[in-house]
Amino acid sequence: MSGKEIKIKTGGFDYRVLIDEGLPAETGRFLRLLFPSDRALLVSDHNVYSRYGEQVIEALAAEKWRVKTALIRPGERSKSLSGARRLYDACVEAGLDRNSPVIALGGGVVGDLAGFVAATYMRGVPLVMLPTSLLAQVDSSVGGKVAVNHPLGKNMIGAFYPPRLVLIDPLVLKTLSERQFRAGVAEMIKYGIIEDENFFFRLEDNLDRLFKREPTFLAEAVAASVSSKARVVEQDEFERDYRRILNFGHTIGHALEAAAAYRYYLHGEAVLIGMALAVDLAEQLGFLDPATAGRIRRLLGRIKIKKPPAGLTAEQVIGKLEHDKKRRSNDLIFVLPDKIGSAVMVPVSDKKMVTAVVESYLGGGA
Ligand code: GLY
Repeated sequence: MSGKEIKIKTGGFDYRVLIDEGLPAETGRFLRLLFPSDRALLVSDHNVYSRYGEQVIEALAAEKWRVKTALIRPGERSKSLSGARRLYDACVEAGLDRNSPVIALGGGVVGDLAGFVAATYMRGVPLVMLPTSLLAQVDSSVGGKVAVNHPLGKNMIGAFYPPRLVLIDPLVLKTLSERQFRAGVAEMIKYGIIEDENFFFRLEDNLDRLFKREPTFLAEAVAASVSSKARVVEQDEFERDYRRILNFGHTIGHALEAAAAYRYYLHGEAVLIGMALAVDLAEQLGFLDPATAGRIRRLLGRIKIKKPPAGLTAEQVIGKLEHDKKRRSNDLIFVLPDKIGSAVMVPVSDKKMVTAVVESYLGGGA
């Protein structure tokens, strides 16, 4: 496989996302070219570290990096201020200076937490992302959102802090469970619907290759997703407006996750349902013609839509919608596709319509 490179411009500097097999083994060399330091902090979780940690440590040692490793417990609960506090201690013990990178090896939790620490330790040390989950590879490692959770809400304390380098090895996705993988594919299809019509068509024709994790198409799809996200964040790095299209499917998706107490859906599974229901709304509100809406629904439907948990009611889901961060006045703000490859932000005041689409899912999940 030949590697791919995507450059992302930010207000401060440009950074590269490299996609290729075996990149983690090159970490030491890449960092040597970028940072005038010999100290680094490697942050990972126990599961990811047991698979890939040694390889990265060896690659760093080969280039004479003096690395301290800090491992966190896998899972969202580690993404807290007390988790960050422990990593600040590790930064001090590692002897980091302002040129010494924090390297995040893992999925979204590791990236968000290590990124938050990199953004704030000494007012900012370089951040390098080695994302190992599909969601992290196509979304959270790119674009600079870093955060920890507050007991009252996810990602409430954070910053926009772009990484200096992202190294993606699509081969690590081979070991993801089928469920995790499909949840990540939902986020990939998102880019096709809201931003990249050609990618949508490629996915229509090649989704089975993606499900089989065929290396060539997997790399193509990861690169297309990252490129799409790059185009969006380059236009609106700080999410003043346009970047919010990346939240397609997230309004109802987040509400479903919250209503099910974050124990039932994977994020991508909830977003998949949120996207399908947003397509219903877009059709009902006249943003999409029935044929296009049907075409999008067909592609989404090929990643099995998860049934709702027993007893979940539309009221519970709508109740969580009302807490949505994107809400303005009494309207709920939805990201709705207006054709394949494009989306708009739409305030929706007709709560009955929203309730009806949520009920259509709760009454009839596949
Ligand atoms: N995950 C959405 C964003 O980066 O804006």
